[in-house]
Amino acid sequence: MTKLVKKAVIPAAGLGTRFLPFSKAVPKEMLPIIDRPVIQYIVEEAVEAGLDDILIITSRHKKAIEDHFDRHTELELALEAKSKFEDSNLVRSLSEMANIHFVRQGEARGLGHAIGMARQHVGNEPFAVLLGDDIMTGGVLKGMVDTYNQQGTSVVALMEVAKEDISSYGCAAVDALGTQIVEVKDLVEKPPVAEAPSNLAIMGRYLFTPAIFDEIDATKPGVGGEIQITDAMVSLMKKERLLGYTFSEGRFDTGMKIDYLRAVVEFALEREDLGQEFRELLKGICTREGLT
Ligand code: G1P
Repeated sequence: MTKLVKKAVIPAAGLGTRFLPFSKAVPKEMLPIIDRPVIQYIVEEAVEAGLDDILIITSRHKKAIEDHFDRHTELELALEAKSKFEDSNLVRSLSEMANIHFVRQGEARGLGHAIGMARQHVGNEPFAVLLGDDIMTGGVLKGMVDTYNQQGTSVVALMEVAKEDISSYGCAAVDALGTQIVEVKDLVEKPPVAEAPSNLAIMGRYLFTPAIFDEIDATKPGVGGEIQITDAMVSLMKKERLLGYTFSEGRFDTGMKIDYLRAVVEFALEREDLGQEFRELLKGICTREGLT
């Protein structure tokens, strides 16, 4: 019997060099999308997909992530003393969203190595991986969990990108199975454009059987001198089937400045308390700048 997926792993140990100087003292996963840090959206997505045992892989400069999901009793009491019960509940609810655990990656040795840090916590169970700076809306993870629960095999999220952008991603060669689920035949991490087998890119969500851990352990450093999860998946595919879950929208790579800005604008427009006012503000800016 296939074990159901209950655990999620969120690698959030990267240095965040694309967001310097901000990320010198504050983890890039704590960048605010209005008033919530990016990592909170990721945890909420895992919880919505039914995964409430969450392990976040951090590093020694990322204590703010742990604090965000901890109690803050002084703040809660101060808010209550001012009868700000809604705010107090909001602060407390962050520590009650899920069972959140932390482990630190001592050295930045790559995504594969970071995921390998989860081995002891995950044990012999399937688990999801959500990259700590990719926000996804539209239920991709939930769809992947359902696919795993039906098929009992590892699943990776895939999205078509412009051909010239494929060298920023893991790239998949696939055979079409159905409209959304495809059979992955090969993977290559950040190929030169001319050598890419397709324009289907790996997009920050994975569902693995525990067999991935042995493959990570056996994986040598690859692109960038780092232990790549994509290389470990290539080894896994020699032993187990790997499915691709394709989707086309709802992803925000908040590790990239332009996509971070897009996330802030899109989420602000959706907000009940801000949307209307923000829309007017944008209209004013567009008129001033001659953008119609
Ligand atoms: C990582 C993975 C890559 C994937 C990408 C986007 O790369 O190694 O395969 O396509 O995330 O989710 P990174 O962006 O960390 O360099």
